[in-house]
Amino acid sequence: MKSAALIRKARKADLDSVEEIENSVFDSDQLSRASLRRYISVPSAAMIVAQEDKAITGYALVGFRKGSKIGRLYSIAVDKTRAGRGVGRALLAASEEAARKRKCNLFALEVRADNPRAIALYEKNGYAMTGREEDWYEDGGDALRFEKKLSR
Ligand SMILES: CC(C)(COP(=O)(O)OP(=O)(O)OC[C@H]1O[C@@H](n2cnc3c(N)ncnc32)[C@H](O)[C@@H]1OP(=O)(O)O)[C@@H](O)C(=O)NCCC(=O)NCCS
Repeated sequence: MKSAALIRKARKADLDSVEEIENSVFDSDQLSRASLRRYISVPSAAMIVAQEDKAITGYALVGFRKGSKIGRLYSIAVDKTRAGRGVGRALLAASEEAARKRKCNLFALEVRADNPRAIALYEKNGYAMTGREEDWYEDGGDALRFEKKLSR
């Protein structure tokens, strides 16, 4: 399904909505408000939001390192009441585009091994699993690593 959401760069005014989504969607390892605020403006990250009418319905956060051609998806989340309508896919595509613009040739992410929905999103969009990290999350949960080559 193609989302009708407007996908754009996050602004400071989006902080409340992004924090609300972060805290309602994740049960552990949530990013703090201070971190989210910082990520909106630092050059080493790109925060992207999905907007439908006036509401922010999802966000994605991409991190970059100086001298590295790897973009990293730090977080992606969609408001529970708006899930399954293509917003996650649109945010993922915009995250990859942000990495391409920064001359990255690889996009990498970790996902909870017990998160079939997110894993399906990545697999359907060309990501390949490259490894497993045990005890990766605060609650001891395992992570799967996924990567995708970014074409020019
Ligand atoms: C994972 C998440 C970002 C997906 O966003 P979304 O807007 O619901 O996803 P989309 O509507 O774009 O769907 C994309 C794909 O996700 C999968 N998906 C979506 N809804 C699903 C459901 N109810 N059950 C299983 N898979 C589902 C499908 O593979 C779907 O592809 P399809 O439409 O071709 O079938 C969202 O569910 C979410 O925020 N989950 C909680 C936070 C999270 O787990 N983040 C990932 C951390 S790594």
